[in-house]
Parts: sequence; structure tokens; C-alpha cells
Amino acid sequence: MKRYILAVTGASGMPYADTLYHALSGLPETEVQVIISESAKAVMQFEAASGTSFSAQNGHFYSERDLTAPMAGGSWIHHGLVICPCSMATLAAVGNGLGNNLIHRAADVALKEKRPLILVPRETPLNQIHLQNMLAASRAGATILPASPGFYHRPESIQDLVNHIVGRILDHLQIDNSLFPRWGEG
Ligand SMILES: Cc1cc2nc3c(=O)[nH]c(=O)nc-3n(C[C@H](O)[C@H](O)[C@H](O)COP(=O)(O)O)c2cc1C
Repeated sequence: MKRYILAVTGASGMPYADTLYHALSGLPETEVQVIISESAKAVMQFEAASGTSFSAQNGHFYSERDLTAPMAGGSWIHHGLVICPCSMATLAAVGNGLGNNLIHRAADVALKEKRPLILVPRETPLNQIHLQNMLAASRAGATILPASPGFYHRPESIQDLVNHIVGRILDHLQIDNSLFPRWGEG
């Protein structure tokens, strides 16, 4: 049994979270636990208006305020935490070791337990504080995987762009996938 945590924060990019959730929850013998920040709920409402947002219905959901949740402790085993999309506020908290909500705490625990932690920021442009926080998180062991889809695979739809990023996230969780055509294989 594999277990993954998807933390959704209040950055733009809910279609990434939606596709990632469905990709993970469709895997055999896999459990997906979801943490949704308060700000993410607001962004979901904005992005729902565009017809694509986060729409997971089944699964285990936790509030950012629930510091008694299993992922707040290091003895609870999981196989990766993905913060997608990752706001600059959450990046700052992760890069500086804050643990005052469940997402920050779960990230801090993932780093100390040497478990995969993938941050998917969307922000552009980046100021020096963002860059410093990314470097701090990366040095501590996180993977910074910006939502910067490529065009070399000739996307024909927004979903193709989303799939490229989600496929790269799955790659970094060592999950086989064919969400996008790979360089050198087409
Ligand atoms: C519609 C909308 C879009 C936003 N997009 C971003 C974004 O792309 N990146 C970001 O860092 N913050 C963005 N924000 C601001 C964050 O939601 C805000 O900084 C919040 O405090 C983040 O909290 P959280 O990290 O706990 O979810 C956005 C806010 C709104 C309402």
C-alpha cells in the first residue's frame, strides 16, 4: 500500500491539483490524503468559474487547522507530500521551518524524515525572497518543481499543459505514467 499527501494552497493552478489528485487516487493500492488551506478554498471558487478547478470528492480531507492529523507526526509513514499549487506564503513557511498549520508541519516532518517533498510554485516573476526561500527549501531536501509546462511535446489543449506538469510530479514520486509524450520517445 502506498500513501501520498496532496496539500493544496492558495496559489493559482487548481487544475494541476485536480489532475494530480485523480492520477494518484486512480492508482491501485494507493491512498491519497488531502489538506486544503483556507486560502485554497477561495482560489478554488475563482478558478471554478473558468470551468476547471479542484473537484475531488472521495478521500481523506484535512483542514490546515487540524494539527492532530496523522501527517503532523513523523512515525506516520507516507511516500511523498506534494504541495500543489504552492503559494509563496507556504513556500516561505516551508523554507523557514514554520509549523503553525498542518501543511507547514507536514512539510517540516517530511524533511526531517527524509521523505519526498515536492513544491509546485506558480508565481512569476520571483523576488529575491521567493528565490531565497526556494533555495532554503531545496537545500533542506525539497524538490522545487515550478508549474512551467513545456511546449516541445506540442500541446493541443490546456489539459495537455496540465498533464505535462502532473506527469513530471509523478516522475519525481517514481510513479510510472504516460501523461505526456517524452522527449526522445516520439
Ligand atoms: C484568486 C487568487 C489567486 C492567487 N494566486 C496566488 C499565486 O499564484 N501565488 C501566490 O503565492 N499567492 C496567490 N494568492 C495569494 C494567496 O492565496 C495568499 O498569499 C494566501 O495567504 C496563501 O495562503 P496559504 O499558503 O496558506 O494557502 C492568490 C489569491 C487569490 C485570491
